[in-house]
Amino acid sequence: MDELAINGGPKTRDTSVKPWPSVGNASGRMFGDEELSLLEQVIRSGNLFRYGGTMVEAFEAEMAAKYGVKHATAVTSGTAAVHTAVAALDLDVGDEVITTTVTDGGTVIGILQCNCVPTFADVDRRTMILRPDSIEAAISERTRAIIVVHLFGQPAPMDEILDIAKKRDLYVIEDCAQAHGATFDGRLVGTMGHLGAFSMQQSKQVATGDGGIVIGNDDQLAARVRMFHDKFYDRRGEYRGYERLGANYRMNELTGAVALAQLRKLDVILEHRRRTAGKLYEAVAQIEGLKPPWIHPKAEHAWWIFSFQIDEEVLGCTVDEFKAAVQAEGLPLSTGYAGGIPICMYPFLAERRAYGRGHFPWEPPYGRGVEYRAEDYPDTYWAQANTFITSWNEGFTEEDVDDIARGLAKVAAYFRARA
Ligand SMILES: Cc1ncc(COP(=O)(O)O)c(C=O)c1O
Repeated sequence: MDELAINGGPKTRDTSVKPWPSVGNASGRMFGDEELSLLEQVIRSGNLFRYGGTMVEAFEAEMAAKYGVKHATAVTSGTAAVHTAVAALDLDVGDEVITTTVTDGGTVIGILQCNCVPTFADVDRRTMILRPDSIEAAISERTRAIIVVHLFGQPAPMDEILDIAKKRDLYVIEDCAQAHGATFDGRLVGTMGHLGAFSMQQSKQVATGDGGIVIGNDDQLAARVRMFHDKFYDRRGEYRGYERLGANYRMNELTGAVALAQLRKLDVILEHRRRTAGKLYEAVAQIEGLKPPWIHPKAEHAWWIFSFQIDEEVLGCTVDEFKAAVQAEGLPLSTGYAGGIPICMYPFLAERRAYGRGHFPWEPPYGRGVEYRAEDYPDTYWAQANTFITSWNEGFTEEDVDDIARGLAKVAAYFRARA
């Protein structure tokens, strides 16, 4: 048996010679002539503004067609997309929106920007995705909406969540930032709730550096989305002024050009991700002591992050020991997504500081005084500490997967032999 790198043996992969493909550069991204050609058209047109241009409009039309929805409005980020979606619901100050403890800040920021109060459901230990029973427990008389996050590229259990929402008359926004093209029970993410919000930030399956889009079928909500992202300016008919408070989240034509070219590559991008991540899944499943990611039988994953867990009893080691060993082998693995704690334990939420020194909108007379306590999210803490993750991308080759699998098998065999 090879000596572990952590004990002075050879590394499985010397990343100074052979780095892993990364979403941070061309090795893990598919930007090329298609993007350049559309960008050139924009520059030569002399108009970079979405109104009067063609790219953002074409991107919205192709996104709506791909997802089979009536409406799509491109915006400047995923955070802007969620904010726009929440704003479109026209909730009252202090109304509550339930979301998950494991997500990016962009899921929560828009709730507070609408002066609503975020509340949190705990997650499934296997997937880190919010749990239907925990959503139900978090519902109060002030709850108006749920923001579901399709985490790591895997759809949340939408059948159960939609049932709860229907029963309790709640809006559902799907945060699809990490899950472009994923499906649940054959339905694309973003098409099952009232609105779907996507990010096109650098690391996403469809990437524009920064960018986002909101999709949906409801005419009234879509009209509000369209106006909100455009300073609440109504461009549909004769001038009516600014009807409500809006924002300027308009996407420009340069971003629209890249978004359009990227969207046209989504199927190829997903095919790559599914093939390589699927191969790694099979490899992990065969290593005694490792548990491949649990995937809901109705879910088709879009692989933004590959995750797995270990069986400490079989391996006779702790998660930290296993992590140190695989990292020494040069494998791109860590634990703890987005800082490794429930998002509501970050200062802006834990201290309830959104504006100035007060606790608006949490405290009466606006909110009902919601506070966040670490002990309410035991499964989040467990899953954050016990789930290995690696960012996935379309640059991963079968050879890369073989290297990861070889390193994992080596470390697991070492610990099993020692156990
Ligand atoms: C689940 C989720 N929601 C929202 C966002 C925010 O997107 P953006 O960074 O484009 O604002 C992200 C970004 O990583 C995300 O992963």
